[in-house]
Amino acid sequence: MRILSIETSCDETAISLVQTDGEFPSATYEILGNALHSQIDIHAEFGGVFPQVAKREHALALVPILISALSQAELLEEVPTNLDEASIEQLKQTLEREDGLASFLLDFLAKYSLPEIDMIAVTSGPGLEPALWVGISFAKAVAQVIGCPVAPVNHMEGHVLASLYDVEIDNALAPIKFPAIALLVSGGHTEIVLMKDWGVYEKIGQTRDDAVGEAFDKVARLMGLPYPGGPEIGRRADIARKANALPYKEVLPRPMLHSNDFDFSFSGLKTAVRYSIDGATLTNDEKNALARDFEDAAIEVLLKKTQKAIDHYDAQTLIIGGGVSANNYLRQTFTESLLGSHPHVEIYLPHRNLSTDNSVMIALAGHAQLATARSAGAIQFISASGNRSL
Ligand code: KG4
Ligand code: ZN
Repeated sequence: MRILSIETSCDETAISLVQTDGEFPSATYEILGNALHSQIDIHAEFGGVFPQVAKREHALALVPILISALSQAELLEEVPTNLDEASIEQLKQTLEREDGLASFLLDFLAKYSLPEIDMIAVTSGPGLEPALWVGISFAKAVAQVIGCPVAPVNHMEGHVLASLYDVEIDNALAPIKFPAIALLVSGGHTEIVLMKDWGVYEKIGQTRDDAVGEAFDKVARLMGLPYPGGPEIGRRADIARKANALPYKEVLPRPMLHSNDFDFSFSGLKTAVRYSIDGATLTNDEKNALARDFEDAAIEVLLKKTQKAIDHYDAQTLIIGGGVSANNYLRQTFTESLLGSHPHVEIYLPHRNLSTDNSVMIALAGHAQLATARSAGAIQFISASGNRSL
C-alpha cells in the first residue's frame, strides 16, 4: 500500500509518502518521501503557538511540502491534471475556509499530476482545531482528486507507533509484549496509556494542568530563553549535571509524586521556578543549574508514576513518545532506572528524528487503524478536540 500522510495538529506542517509491505503489525514501512516545515521561527516571536497563525502558515506550507515529499519519492510528475468544472468546484468548496489553499492546490494541479495513492492518513486530533482543519480539508481535497479514502487518525497513537518503529534496521514495528504502558509527553499532553493489545488504548492518567513540554517551554521563558524552550532546558541541564553544579536555590517540589493515581500536575512546579527566580536576571551558570533542578523534578515525577503504572498493570513493555522523549536526561533516567527496578520490561523510545511531531507516525497510525478497523471516533481516548467526523 502507498500511504500519503498529513500532519498539521500544531506548529509543524508535515507530509510523507510511505510504502507498506505486509499486514499490520508485522508490515514493513519504507519512507519514500518525508517533508516537514516547522513554524517555530514565527511562533518564537510570540513566545508560543497561536492557532490562527498556525492555520495560516499551514495553508501556505502544505503545497510546497507536498511537492517536496513527492519529489523525494521521485513521484512528482510534471503533467497537468485534467479536472472538469465540477471537480474544480468541489475542490474549492472543500478548501473554502483555508486561506488561499484552493488556489495553491489548483496551481499545483495545473502543472503536476498526483501519483497513485491507496489511502491518505491525516491527523484529526488532538491538536489545535483551526490547524487540524487545514490538514483535514487538504486531505479531503487531494483524496477527491486521486479518488482514494481518507483515514482520520489520532496524533497520540502516532507518537506511540513512532516509538515502536525501527527506522534504522528493519523498517518495522517492534513485536512488543502486552500489556504495555505508554508514557506520552509532549507540548500539549502528558498521559499514561494502558495498551492491552494493538489499537486498544485506555488512558489511565494525565496532567491536571500544564503538559510537561509546556512546563519546559514556560520555565525556559521565565529564564529568558527562546521558544520552544524544551531542548534548550535539556542542553543547559546536561551542562550543569556534568559540572556537578549546586542547586540554584532550594529543592523544587515534585507535585503529585505520592498521589494515589497516575495523574500529573506541572503548573505548581513552574510557579515554584518563578518564585525561585523572583525577578532576578540569572547568570549563565545559574540558568544551567535551575534548568537542571527543574528537569530533575519533572523527570522524577514522570518516572515514579510510570513505574507505579507498570507495577499496577504488570506491564511487559514501556513505550515513551512525544516531543519531550527527545530529552537526554529522560532517556537516560528511564533506561537506567527501569533496568534496576523492572529488568523484564522492554523500553521503546522513538528515533530522535521521529520524537517530535512528524508525518511518518501518521502513516503508521493510519495503517494501524485500517487493520484494527477502528474509526477515529472510537479512539477518542485523548481529548480529541478536532475529531469531528469527515
Ligand atoms: O510532540 P511535540 O513535537 O508536539 C506536540 O504534540 O506538542 O512536542 C513538542 C514539545 C515542546 O514542548 C518541546 O519543548 C518539547 O516537546 N521538547 C523537549 C525536547 N525536545 C522537544 N523537551 C525537553 N527536552 C527536549 N530535548
Ligand atoms: Zn505531538
